[in-house]
Amino acid sequence: MQWGTPQSQGDGNRSDGPYQPYQPYEPYEPHGPSYEEIPTAPVLPAMPAMPATQAAPATPVGSKLLLVAQDVVKQYKVGGGTVTALRHVTLTVGEGRIVAIRGRSGAGKTTLLNIIAGLDSPTSGHVALFGRDLATLNERKRTELRRHDLGFVFQAAHLNPVLTARENVEVPLRLARTARKEREGRSHEALALVGLAEREKHRPPELSGGEQQRVAIARALVHAPRIVLADEPTGNLDSHTGLAILDLMRRVAHRAGITFIVTTHDPQASQMADEVYDISDGVLSPGQR
Ligand SMILES: Nc1ncnc2c1ncn2[C@@H]1O[C@H](COP(=O)(O)OP(=O)(O)OP(=O)(O)O)[C@@H](O)[C@H]1O
Ligand SMILES: [Mg+2]
Repeated sequence: MQWGTPQSQGDGNRSDGPYQPYQPYEPYEPHGPSYEEIPTAPVLPAMPAMPATQAAPATPVGSKLLLVAQDVVKQYKVGGGTVTALRHVTLTVGEGRIVAIRGRSGAGKTTLLNIIAGLDSPTSGHVALFGRDLATLNERKRTELRRHDLGFVFQAAHLNPVLTARENVEVPLRLARTARKEREGRSHEALALVGLAEREKHRPPELSGGEQQRVAIARALVHAPRIVLADEPTGNLDSHTGLAILDLMRRVAHRAGITFIVTTHDPQASQMADEVYDISDGVLSPGQR
């Protein structure tokens, strides 16, 4: 089991040859930017002062700046009017961090995650992922970046009910045309990471809600992304199971160097995060724990 330590050996070829254990950084090339290309804090210009009583959580000096969102505004035109979903949002996220974004329904959480993922574009402002301004990438490049470097978890697990847990976890690897042996090895590892090695042959109706969400997390991790975006991943779970899921994310973040950006309604979720923000009516501000 190699999830705990970043490895540098291996040729990073994900499609051929015998199964190679998890290697966080090598497999991305040549698809995404190389690890060396990602700027480290505090290389970028200082962030503008935030309109909040508390200072923004600092990204540790020297850590890779995986996400830099600057002054992001998002407006939707609906009917004759305009809805402003994000108002001058600035956010910097470093490597291996777990960042919680708390906010009520309609506050702008999903809009922000969609813009971070390049699924929607800001009305103004900039988003850089892994040192690349998303506005400079065409749709094909953005899709490639998502496929290789991002993982997604949603409020509902959205598993395929006719596939086993392991087959569900394999889906991103099938999209990446990974060879069968490697697919099986990686999906088994990812399920073991979320504590479900014993359940890999179960189909979703044969799993509890929390277990289904753990399968969804394994699916989000199986291709070794750099960032996992989780949109209210605990929204359908009781608070005990929800906290266990968040704790699992924190352990994965710290052991495997994968960054999690997690939106939530749950005030308790902030206990698990390295950094907490609140979003209200499209305004993001550093949050109190
Ligand atoms: N495609 C769209 N067109 C028009 N308005 C939209 C669109 N998507 C979101 N909005 C509006 O933008 C605001 C933010 O929506 P968003 O989905 O980001 O909220 P949220 O914080 O994710 O809420 P929830 O917790 O209910 O999921 C809301 O007022 C919503 O009505
Ligand atoms: Mg939402």
